[in-house]
Amino acid sequence: MNKYTNIHDVANIPETIQEAIQLKENPFSHKNLGVDKTLLMLFFNASLRTRLSTEKAAKNLGMNVMILNVNDTWNLEFEEGTVMNLNKSEHVIEAAQVISQYADIIAVRAFPSLTDKEKDTSEWILNSFLKYATVPIINMESATMHPLQALADAITIEELKIIQKPKVVLSWAPHPKALPQAVANSFVKMMQSLETNFSITHPKGYELNSKITKNTPIYYNQKEALKDADFVYAKNWSSYESYGKVLHQDSDWMLTKEKLKTAKFMHCLPVRRNIIVEDAVLDGENSVVIQQSANRVFSAQIVLKKILENL
Ligand code: CP
Repeated sequence: MNKYTNIHDVANIPETIQEAIQLKENPFSHKNLGVDKTLLMLFFNASLRTRLSTEKAAKNLGMNVMILNVNDTWNLEFEEGTVMNLNKSEHVIEAAQVISQYADIIAVRAFPSLTDKEKDTSEWILNSFLKYATVPIINMESATMHPLQALADAITIEELKIIQKPKVVLSWAPHPKALPQAVANSFVKMMQSLETNFSITHPKGYELNSKITKNTPIYYNQKEALKDADFVYAKNWSSYESYGKVLHQDSDWMLTKEKLKTAKFMHCLPVRRNIIVEDAVLDGENSVVIQQSANRVFSAQIVLKKILENL
């Protein structure tokens, strides 16, 4: 594998999930694979889980890890052919090539603006690194995708499912701020790639990009969607059609113990308690959010392992 920018960069997803579960049983089984290799993680935005789990995964494989918070360095220019006479001091053309001199793999986190749909959809930051870096790139959440999260989510469902084809529902939930669609998009693509009975529920106006949802069933009635669910994945996202807008914050869409019944509750975290989901769910026995976070290590580790094997 020579990059991981979306879930389809892995050749066989079900096989990769099984390999990740094996790594979890023996995390140090390939501790020499990454010796004398460096992972350099670039953060344009904040992170708790992605930063720590990816660093841990790299160290489990014997890699060195460097982290650069991009806000601490020169203001980067991404436009090509521009006259750099304003506040941008360095072009990504040089920056990506320079960083490639110090790293064997570069991982990038860069959220969308949520104000410029065309630019966000073009994945201009991630694609600039793909274009100009000379080493493999890993997506640690870009404008439209969060593939490391989706792989961790799939590992979690595989570990917990008790029937071959579980019913999985992605439910929109309220949030006071405009959030990206990336987690939802990658989860949708992952569920479409696996053997699940998958559907999405959200209020009208929150339709995700139809090129991603394709023919996945969409319910505007959350109660109907959640009926007999085995797994409920809660996530907020801002409107795709009215790009980046918070259309409403209807607390009727909060996930509650009463709505979930026996379904396992999933969320990528961080989560706003009693806005997205009530305490009784998060503190209850059916919440698997901590297991999802633990599996972030093994989604990153299997991806790093496959890239290191190809260096
Ligand atoms: N789920 C997730 O990506 O968490 P962080 O934003 O803390 O990395």
